[in-house]
Amino acid sequence: MPATDSRPALPLALARTAEAVAAYLDGAITRAGAPGERLAAAMRHATLAGGKRLRPFLVIESAALFGVAPAQALPAAAALECLHCYSLVHDDLPAMDNDDMRRGRPTVHRAYDEATAILAGDGLLTLAFEILASGGEDTDPTIRLALVASLARAAGVAGMIGGQMLDLAAEGRFAQGPLHRVPLDLPADSIIELQAMKTGALLRHACEAGALLGRASASERASLERYARAVGRAFQIADDLLDVEGEAGLVGKAVGKDAAAGKATLVGKLGVEGARAELARLVEEAETALAGFGSAATLLKEAAHFVADRRN
Ligand code: IPE
Ligand code: IPE
Ligand code: MG
Ligand code: MG
Ligand code: MG
Repeated sequence: MPATDSRPALPLALARTAEAVAAYLDGAITRAGAPGERLAAAMRHATLAGGKRLRPFLVIESAALFGVAPAQALPAAAALECLHCYSLVHDDLPAMDNDDMRRGRPTVHRAYDEATAILAGDGLLTLAFEILASGGEDTDPTIRLALVASLARAAGVAGMIGGQMLDLAAEGRFAQGPLHRVPLDLPADSIIELQAMKTGALLRHACEAGALLGRASASERASLERYARAVGRAFQIADDLLDVEGEAGLVGKAVGKDAAAGKATLVGKLGVEGARAELARLVEEAETALAGFGSAATLLKEAAHFVADRRN
């Protein structure tokens, strides 16, 4: 713990976020009112065990820069994690990445079945917006509306969904089809853009949510955006490096699949050493973006290192 700062260091802060988000989502899934037990159980499987909870952490810490209490930022944080978990459930489906393990456990379609996984994902996606719109009653309705719009944009076709489509297209999935041709050997710039959509959009939303909750000025928002953009890029490079160098048992999901699937990654493009150098540059860029916030941004700066150095 830094001597000048009474707040907990990063691991403890992440653990607190994880605990608060799990409790919030557990309650939200109960209140969501799914019929029978299977659907709610699949939604719990997807949300309540494991996960770094990085996105909700970024919401809470970005909001904290402006004096917003963690409890006030929690609904927006939990809504984002809920949406992220849906994206993982669908990403793992046989029609997408076809993965059997997630967060060290069977994926939802393996633990239940495909139809239940699709519906549980849909349930989490819609629940995220219910939480944003009606949770956080102490938050100004105008801010809640802005949070809804920001998350919809980030998660939608110009963000995560669009990025997922490009990710699959770059594997050559639709090469025979008339509508969506993407060159199979994508240039680095296109990979960066693809990843900025697939992974970066939700991470940028996390910081934007904190800025909205904290009524940040335009320049404060821009600084956080720069930070989130760099962290988002670093995040996916680290994920792609783990696929090459990680151990499934530690990472909690299958590794060694991206190259075989023909995924467009910067690791594939730049090699492991090149990707590492880019990672280091991005962490520095993220830290520099927050210089104006001084020591209030210490945990966010640490988070940029955590994203790059993580082992799962
Ligand atoms: C995995 O996200 C999916 C990507 C965007 C690469 P995380 O690595 O944040 O997964 P959890 O939430 O910690 O399991
Ligand atoms: C997934 O990226 C990004 C999402 C939008 C879920 P990956 O497919 O690389 O994520 P992992 O490796 O399965 O977690
Ligand atoms: Mg994928
Ligand atoms: Mg995947
Ligand atoms: Mg991956």
